[in-house]
Amino acid sequence: MNTDWQAIRFTVNGVSCTVHAPPMKRLLDVLREDLHLTGTKEGCGEGECGSCSVRMNGDLVNSCLVPVLQAEGAEIQTVEGLSLDGELSVLQEAFLQHGGAQCGICTPGMLMAAAQLLTRTPHPTTAEIREALAGNLCRCTGFMGIFASVAAAAEAQAAAPAAETARHAR
Ligand code: FES
Ligand code: FES
Repeated sequence: MNTDWQAIRFTVNGVSCTVHAPPMKRLLDVLREDLHLTGTKEGCGEGECGSCSVRMNGDLVNSCLVPVLQAEGAEIQTVEGLSLDGELSVLQEAFLQHGGAQCGICTPGMLMAAAQLLTRTPHPTTAEIREALAGNLCRCTGFMGIFASVAAAAEAQAAAPAAETARHAR
């Protein structure tokens, strides 16, 4: 296995960047340590909890399981990419208003999973919301506030669909 540091290029939240890192360094650690994007959280570190979820080339991935080498040339979106010019997205506002977050460790991953759902399924049923978030664990909320937040965001998004869908799709 080649452990030499390499220059790896990718795009994060629309900004091109180059990091110099061991190719097997976890994308999670590169985001947090090299790029100082600390919104993405580590829970289990084993692909089980979803706290570290980011979007890579439009797919939801657990960044604790992705060697940074796999991100070469990729487009990555982290939770920092949901807000625009310091303004929270409709989805983030909904989590704030409907009890979607308590300690906050699971919240960035929940938001990314929910953003992924709302991009692909703008009008999800309750069952679809539960299924989309099934890979994300929360120890605090009992989940009902999270499901309510996503449903509220979907409703709000229906009122301003183009802008919000475009934001989630970034
Ligand atoms: S920290 Fe990555 S899935 Fe739990
Ligand atoms: S809000 Fe604490 S783990 Fe979900």
